[in-house]
Amino acid sequence: MESNNITVVGLQWGDEGKGKIVDALARTSCYVTRYCGGANAGHTVKAGGEKFALHLIPCGILHEKVINVIGNGVAFDPEVAWGEIVALRERHIRIDSENFRISSCAQLVMPWHKYQDKLNEQSLGRNKIGTTARGIGPCYADKANRSTSIRACDLLDVASLEQKIRHIGQQKNTVFAALYNAAPMDIGTIVAQFRSLAENLSPMICNTSALLRNACQAGRRILFEGGQGSMLDIDHGTYPYVTSSPVTACGVPAGAGVSPKSVGRVLGIMKAYTTRVGAGPFPTELDNEIGQAIRDAGHEYGTTTGRPRRCGWLDAMVVRYTASLSGVDELALMLLDVLTGFDELKICTGYKIDGEIVKDFDPARLDEVECVYETMPGWQQDITDCRKFSELPAEAQNYVRRISEIVGVPVGIISVGPERTQTILHESEIKELA
Ligand code: IMP
Repeated sequence: MESNNITVVGLQWGDEGKGKIVDALARTSCYVTRYCGGANAGHTVKAGGEKFALHLIPCGILHEKVINVIGNGVAFDPEVAWGEIVALRERHIRIDSENFRISSCAQLVMPWHKYQDKLNEQSLGRNKIGTTARGIGPCYADKANRSTSIRACDLLDVASLEQKIRHIGQQKNTVFAALYNAAPMDIGTIVAQFRSLAENLSPMICNTSALLRNACQAGRRILFEGGQGSMLDIDHGTYPYVTSSPVTACGVPAGAGVSPKSVGRVLGIMKAYTTRVGAGPFPTELDNEIGQAIRDAGHEYGTTTGRPRRCGWLDAMVVRYTASLSGVDELALMLLDVLTGFDELKICTGYKIDGEIVKDFDPARLDEVECVYETMPGWQQDITDCRKFSELPAEAQNYVRRISEIVGVPVGIISVGPERTQTILHESEIKELA
């Protein structure tokens, strides 16, 4: 059976503007599902003049009939989730066990994971990864380790949960003292905190894999909401400067508990330029006044950590690689308006290593490449009110066409501002966005 689902993935180093597109697509979806990452994500959605910054709760929560799912592949931080639930309820957004479901198999981010993330980064000094300090890496490490993991299903049995917290917490205190000379955590406080979180979150925990597979069978649309960006993928990104989960569309089946055939139409989200937060290779980075101009115009400061993002020209080699990894059907080109006012724009269309053109993209060798650029004329007109492709200045139209040509995937959606209405549908197969 042909899948009716849509998967949204970021094609660069995160922060591509997935939140706006997921929010728009959520209107026609029955389920919105997170399958990777955790509270390291930061999705900003502007709706009805209000701004919502979500880290863990799927963006579908802003739509009344949508069921929002935390898949088994998510590093689920109960403290952050409960904080977001309370904050959303204060703004009169309904969120309860009917419209928010947490996989019983999702790994819990525990206070020691966040503590370890910080201690580890401090100990790495100049070699630090530049994580979001949300405990993501240590949580997935414990998932793989098994004997030190705590899952959402453990919240359903408070007596056994308490035992686990005491046992694992003590182990962690011993290890942190030996490794980092760190002060011990107060395990009693963690037990008390988790007793209360268990009570609040238990009604929302269930077998989400079955829920989603049944939905697929019934032909009900699921929107899979990718976190981070494909260049941060644990396997296919710029390792070790990556996050700790599979974030491409390949992560959907494993992280949501559905068949690979359920991935559906894959929508790749990209910025009209490139940004990155944290350390690691970034071939088109502009550590100069042009980079600063992009940062200012695009408000390029992290939603999760507030850190200034590194900015640079569009690296089409990156997008071509990541689009092919996820089998992207259509591109959504975000933040095109940020490029207004530049005399000329550059697109990286190739790499050289030792003077030789590189044939196959290799994320492991990204710090060795020299970029080959194509220069295109910029545009000066404000494009934030354009609603049709034909209303864009010719230079902007050419820029969009060239991206599509190099990446080999049509640009279906163009975003010219943060509001839902500031969107141009151009050859999109996703008619529901109109
Ligand atoms: P972690 O996921 O917190 O372990 O961070 C690992 C790397 O991924 C760091 O460079 C972070 O800045 C980056 N990162 C993680 N999540 C996001 C995101 O949602 N947007 C952009 N960068 C992210």
